[in-house]
Amino acid sequence: MIDLQTQYLGLNLSNPLVAAASALSKRTSIVKRMEDAGISAVVMYSLFEEQITHDSLAFNYFMERGTERFAESLDYFPNLERYNVGPDEYLNQIRKNKEAVDIPIIGSLNGVSNSGWIKYAKEMEQAGADALELNTYYVTTNPDLEACQVEDNYFELVKAVCDNVDIPVAVKLSPFFTALPNFINLLIEAGAAGFVLFNRFIQPDIDVENMEVDTTLHLSSSAELLLPLRWMALLYGRIDADLALTSGVHTGVDLVKTIMAGANVAMVASEFVAQGIQRATEMLSEMENWMMAYNYESVGKMRGSMSQKNVENPAAYERANYMKALQTYDNKLP
Ligand SMILES: Cc1cc2nc3c(=O)[nH]c(=O)nc-3n(C[C@H](O)[C@H](O)[C@H](O)COP(=O)(O)O)c2cc1C
Repeated sequence: MIDLQTQYLGLNLSNPLVAAASALSKRTSIVKRMEDAGISAVVMYSLFEEQITHDSLAFNYFMERGTERFAESLDYFPNLERYNVGPDEYLNQIRKNKEAVDIPIIGSLNGVSNSGWIKYAKEMEQAGADALELNTYYVTTNPDLEACQVEDNYFELVKAVCDNVDIPVAVKLSPFFTALPNFINLLIEAGAAGFVLFNRFIQPDIDVENMEVDTTLHLSSSAELLLPLRWMALLYGRIDADLALTSGVHTGVDLVKTIMAGANVAMVASEFVAQGIQRATEMLSEMENWMMAYNYESVGKMRGSMSQKNVENPAAYERANYMKALQTYDNKLP
């Protein structure tokens, strides 16, 4: 019997397959199906700062520092009326999901200033959220803004939330930080108990027929797993916090890799959106079969086994093999 149990943010989970923040959690019937399919916890879709502040859209933090272009860009925010998911509705959805299932429900807040966040972080806790995920989706475009200012803003934001709730808080980060391990340690100091690697930014394309910027959200593929996988392997055993991997987990073998690199859990959205919730059951049994075939009796034993700490050639995760990799095609040139 394979033991798939894991812990994340102090929560005891039956296995490492968690539903990432997505619209799927807007329907309680889907959340119930997720539990039935074996998913061990659900991260709610995000309550966006724009939904909290709505009219004022005050993003004080960055605007105070002279980000005029950012003010212009506010015009491009979507019409939030269409989304019809204000804070009250969001809190109700947490309550409904909590009532319907026994698995943990993690609330998600998405924004860049701390105005409003503390209030809603507390209210999510009161609505029954077992933990919180903070997603600071901010693209730093202001040339006057220094890296340390951006990091200080994150620190203050995370600290403000952590100081005001009793449930554990994880931070969903982007991969674009200069000194990621150091920055993570700073956020641990601010009170973060876990990190979700990585936020998948929408990469706008250019529609040359209609001369428009195309912001379609493309679903991921397993190829996107490699970036968070590498960072997971580098961070495992080096930081004192839980780790969730998100981006590119589509199969049971992807799950195995995620755990071997050092994650406590894998958070999946695209696969469920594209192929349906029943994929969770298939992915879990694929992982279990793999573990049986390779004599791993528990997720605990497998965790971190292929991290930088535990492999024969730790430098492979850094730079050492870069030159060798580039030479792969030297003998195959046309
Ligand atoms: C339809 C959809 C909606 C999403 N909504 C949110 C959201 O509200 N908040 C958030 O932090 N991430 C959101 N995400 C990102 C996912 O949580 C996840 O981190 C990302 O898609 C990478 O995982 P994947 O490769 O399994 O899709 C969304 C993703 C999808 C596909």
